[in-house]
Parts: sequence; structure tokens; C-alpha cells
Amino acid sequence: MPCPSDGMPHTPVLLDELVSAVTTDPTGRYVDATYGGGGHSRALLAGLQPQARLLAMDRDEIAVSNARRLAQTDSRVMVEHASFSRIGEVARIRGLRQISGVMMDVGVSGHQLDAAERGFSYMRDGPLDMRMDRKQGVTAAQWLNSAEEEDLTEVFRRYGEERQAARVARAVVRRRPLARTFDLVAAIREAAMGHQVHRQTLARVFQAVRIHVNDEIDQLDEGLDAAFACLGSGGRLGVISFHSIEHRMVRRRFRAWVQGDPVLRRVSIPGEPGGAARHIVRNARPSGAEVAANPRAQSAMLQVVEKCA
Ligand SMILES: C[S@@+](CC[C@H](N)C(=O)[O-])C[C@H]1O[C@@H](n2cnc3c(N)ncnc32)[C@H](O)[C@@H]1O
Repeated sequence: MPCPSDGMPHTPVLLDELVSAVTTDPTGRYVDATYGGGGHSRALLAGLQPQARLLAMDRDEIAVSNARRLAQTDSRVMVEHASFSRIGEVARIRGLRQISGVMMDVGVSGHQLDAAERGFSYMRDGPLDMRMDRKQGVTAAQWLNSAEEEDLTEVFRRYGEERQAARVARAVVRRRPLARTFDLVAAIREAAMGHQVHRQTLARVFQAVRIHVNDEIDQLDEGLDAAFACLGSGGRLGVISFHSIEHRMVRRRFRAWVQGDPVLRRVSIPGEPGGAARHIVRNARPSGAEVAANPRAQSAMLQVVEKCA
């Protein structure tokens, strides 16, 4: 169901699958670490009792104002403008311990992608910003205009898995200064040297820049540990990821908690033994019908673990 917040729709992905898997106690304490348009939060709240609590977090100020509007009409909801890497600290300050369920639906929302002035989309001309939190860090333009060519190549390759990374980096350097999304599109086209540029190439380069500008991989790395740490016994963490780097990171981490593999455990919570969790949902993908109705769901994957006693 599209969310009408701010007139910019975001259709929640794997809605029933995530919400039903993390709801363990209708009177419990929950965190939506990526509130966005609030679709998952509203569905969760619909099944919770009046004494339940939901902490809604997001690093995007528009998502946070959506959440504040909901909090005005639902006293179970509290709101925090913060990255999910800070979930433990925020929950503690809010007096929320032994959390029953955490939802993380990572990546960007429809309202971010569709707003040309945010600079996330290769289909809309706008300033090359791409920051989810516009009060933090450097914009995509600042980074693209100042980074060494080798660093650009490395980011396009690592976060976009783009085979033409070096050629795109060279074209970016040649066309500096870049100011608008369509300047970056023009650089990618130039790198193709007259060949047709596939939509996937544009998507991969834009994704890479976005991941870098928002430090998404480190944030997810920290956020997973922080979320798992604040769960009570029997509490569940559900994560929807959207590209292979995120899928791998979530799967590895969940496996480490479940199996306690000594190698994997080194990337897990220090001191957290294997057998700390059990899988509830593994590698769930949206149905064909969901993808047909919402093409953005195509690459989504859901994993849910439950923390053991
Ligand atoms: C796919 S949308 C979430 C949509 C939401 N579940 C819904 O139903 O509307 C992802 C959201 O996560 C937020 N986000 C991404 N990384 C974040 C982080 N490190 N900390 C907090 N929020 C983050 C984005 O700003 C965006 O609003």
C-alpha cells in the first residue's frame, strides 16, 4: 500500500513477512530503525496493544518528520533522528531495554529516489547531493570533484561492482566540476565511448556513490551488532537488504550468531558465542506479484533471527 506521506509515495517491501516475523509480543518494545514513509511501522502498530512502545528512527529529516506526525496521533510512538548505528544508545536513553523486535529496511526510500533535489536518481536532473542526512558529511558532488581517480575507481568497483569502473572514474575526472546528476550521467555515457549505456551501469555507479557518501557499509556493520545487542531473550531482528554487498554482510553476521563459526565469529559481537541466535527467516524474496506491483522490490531480501536466552 503506498504511503501518502509528504505526497511522495513509498511502497513498503515484504511488509507482512517482516512485520509478522518480528512481532513476538503484542505488548512489547520495538524499534523501526529505518522509518522512511512508515509503512512497516504502521503495520506493526496495528497488531500491538496500547502498552506497547515503538521507537521510530531514521537519519533522513523528512522521514523523521513523517514519524513525528504519527507520534502526534499515537502515544506508543517515540521518534529519534539518528543513524541506526546508534540504536543501542538511543534505546537506552529512551528507557527501552530488552527489545522485542527491531526492523531494518536498509537503503533508500521511494520518497528519496523520487525527489530530484536529493540527487539520488540517474533519471532525474538535480543537484548531486545523495546524503540521507543533509546536515552531515560531504555531498556526492564534493566527493566526486575532489577524490583521487584511483579512489573513484575503487568505490565504483567495490560498491557498484562496475566492470568499467576505471573508465568511468577517468571520465568523471575529465568532466569536473560535476554539479548535477545529469553531469554524472554524461560522464558515464562518455566512458561508454559511443556504446549504448545500460540502465544497470547507471544504477550501479549511482549506487556506489550513494553507498560511499552515506558510509552505508560501516553503518550497517555497526547497526547489525547494535540492534542485536539491544534485543531481549526471544527478541527478533529482521533486515531487508537490497544489494549483494548488504545481502552477504547480513547473512554472514546472522550465520555467525547462529553457528558460532570461529572464523565468522571474529566479525561478530566480541564475546558473543555461537548459538546466540536461531534463524527465523532465511533469504526470503518478494513474490512475483509483489515485484510486478512494485519493481523496486525486485532485489530485496529478508533475513530474520531470534536471540536465544
Ligand atoms: C527503504 S526505506 C525504509 C522504508 C520503510 N520501511 C517504510 O515502510 O516506509 C530506508 C530508510 O532507511 C533510512 N536509512 C538508511 N540508512 C540509515 C541509517 N544508517 N540509519 C538510519 N536510517 C537509515 C533512509 O533514510 C530511508 O528512509
